[in-house]
Amino acid sequence: MSRKPSVLITGASGEIGHALISRLSHSDPDRPIVTLDLNPLPPESAKLVKQAVNGSILDPALLDGILAQYEVDHVYHLAALLSTRSEFSPALAHKVNVEGTLNLLEFAQKQGESHGRPVAFFYPSSIAAFGLPSLDIKGQAGQVKEDDYNVPTTMYGANKLYCEHLGRYYSRHYKQLAVETMSGKVDFRCIRFPGLISAETVPSGGTSDYAPEMIHAAASGQPYACFVRPDTRIPFMAMPDAVDAIFRLMDAPRARLSRTVYNIGAFAPSAAEIATVVHAAFPKAEMSTKVDEKRQGIVDSWPADVDDSAARNDWGHAPQYGFASAFGEYLIPSIKKRYAGA
Ligand code: SER
Repeated sequence: MSRKPSVLITGASGEIGHALISRLSHSDPDRPIVTLDLNPLPPESAKLVKQAVNGSILDPALLDGILAQYEVDHVYHLAALLSTRSEFSPALAHKVNVEGTLNLLEFAQKQGESHGRPVAFFYPSSIAAFGLPSLDIKGQAGQVKEDDYNVPTTMYGANKLYCEHLGRYYSRHYKQLAVETMSGKVDFRCIRFPGLISAETVPSGGTSDYAPEMIHAAASGQPYACFVRPDTRIPFMAMPDAVDAIFRLMDAPRARLSRTVYNIGAFAPSAAEIATVVHAAFPKAEMSTKVDEKRQGIVDSWPADVDDSAARNDWGHAPQYGFASAFGEYLIPSIKKRYAGA
């Protein structure tokens, strides 16, 4: 039982969770962290949290148990089925991604009502919320703004887009109560992430995974067949900048936020450009292309880049790493160290 203001992180054993737990435990060591995930936390994360609950966001008894034991005032709702995985079981994806998010928003509302303060709620959306109708239009569109091309072609993208609306509802229109009264107790803040690349972890079930897979395979001496064409282009970001963006958004005064959902970008290389950089670092890497038409179609529907001026203006989004430095200063040195001697 902890009546200290606490943090709840769902999906904590995933890639963002791993990086977030490590940063949160340093920046705010007195705030207990509770996690909820189907999978056990990796040991390096487990030692940093107060309680790691093993289970599903679809299990109301687990959420009620956390509600009774903790005074949660920050929720990071990271649990989701990613885009490729969701196309194998769309109805399950809807359950996890939409019903799961609704459960967490209800949880936050109840927490806020019980302790009388708004609960800050972070939600990671994705470039998958966009759907560009053709490669020609993708080429012409360039940097896409938040409210353009919101016609996703995947179950995951549709789930993310709808949950953005749910978050806005709980935050600004809950039961149609005036927003200034904060009777709606959820302070929902959302980033649409580009593809993320971490030196520490390898993703699973995503469609932007070709970039991290390419570099982790090269570093560990495995051959890699990239599942998209060399000219394929979407935005990417190094994981430390993604976590930094979460902190900046969550720290911003609410009055500074003109939106509930923000694009963020850092660099937007083609698959061929990524392969060239990886090859330069690992000259023995065996890399080829074997296009998976379905996954190619998904990435082709995502923007080549995003307009993130609202994030820069409202809360100072400022990624540290561009394309060259993300690889040269973060990914390649850290990944080399990680696989050294393996
Ligand atoms: N990176 C995720 C995926 O590929 C998109 O949010 O599914």
